[in-house]
Amino acid sequence: MVSEKQTLDGKVTVITGGGTGLGKAMALALAKAGSNIVVAARRTGPIEQTAREVTDLGRRALAIPTDVTDSQQVNRMIETALSEMGKINILINNAGIVRGQGRKPIWEITDEEWHLGIDTNLSSAFFCCRAVSQHFIERKSGKVINVASGEGLRGVRDNYMYCSAKGGVIQLTRTLALTWAQDNIKVNCIVPGFVDTRELQPDARPEVPPEVARASRSLGEFIPVGRLGIPGDIAALALFLASDASDYITGGIYTADGGGLAGGTTTTGYAPTIPIKEE
Ligand SMILES: NC(=O)c1ccc[n+]([C@@H]2O[C@H](COP(=O)([O-])OP(=O)(O)OC[C@H]3O[C@@H](n4cnc5c(N)ncnc54)[C@H](OP(=O)(O)O)[C@@H]3O)[C@@H](O)[C@H]2O)c1
Repeated sequence: MVSEKQTLDGKVTVITGGGTGLGKAMALALAKAGSNIVVAARRTGPIEQTAREVTDLGRRALAIPTDVTDSQQVNRMIETALSEMGKINILINNAGIVRGQGRKPIWEITDEEWHLGIDTNLSSAFFCCRAVSQHFIERKSGKVINVASGEGLRGVRDNYMYCSAKGGVIQLTRTLALTWAQDNIKVNCIVPGFVDTRELQPDARPEVPPEVARASRSLGEFIPVGRLGIPGDIAALALFLASDASDYITGGIYTADGGGLAGGTTTTGYAPTIPIKEE
């Protein structure tokens, strides 16, 4: 029965960036399906809150403060997860820098900004996959879900690090899927479109200018189905890719974007999101 294959009873999922937004939604959806959850990000408050909500659902939870741009911290996080939980079945590479990029010309981007963008959005996934690889290969079992972006499949004005890194996440997915195909390790990638997380509300994150938040919401008009995504739209896909129901699927790149990439035409970034020039 396909529905029986969607249970995650007794499984252990490690998810990065699981204290907020899409990561939190995925963590809770997988916990509801039966998985124990290890949640890792830099701030302790949000990951501990996710861990409490997972525990309230009757699953085991562990919050491990981790900067995923630092491979030593990633290695320690995976070691702790293994020693506390005994195994890892599912790895979700979700952490990323989502906002605050693409606002200045290329000559103003520092080496530090470039490396931070690439390391947070791409190297982090490589570090986590490398850290868990031998465990997955020894067990001949494992599921990796990488979170890319529609901006990894198309260009965005001035947005060098994010677009390059998310494109890299898609290629990392394909390469790992091929490499691990004979080891029963499935590697797939979710490509979200514009998802309305709490942070897009103008009042919730002061560093997001209200005009950007408003423009983000108005992007719904450009999406074929006529609305932004909600975190649950992404969590539903993650649940399927984490479960045995997707066992024949590897190397897949799955958009969940309300049809946004289907038409091949998109906003240019010139209007209404970012004005061409400040007057
Ligand atoms: N929302 C969308 O419309 C959208 C669209 C396409 C793709 N995505 C992708 O979906 C993923 C989640 O995004 P979101 O929208 O849910 O945004 P979010 O709420 O800002 O989530 C990003 C998470 O990554 C964590 N993070 C950032 N830097 C980190 C670091 N160095 N080490 C460890 N954790 C780090 C953050 O936690 P800390 O700050 O505590 O570390 C945060 O929980 C990202 O990969 C993003 O690129 C989102």
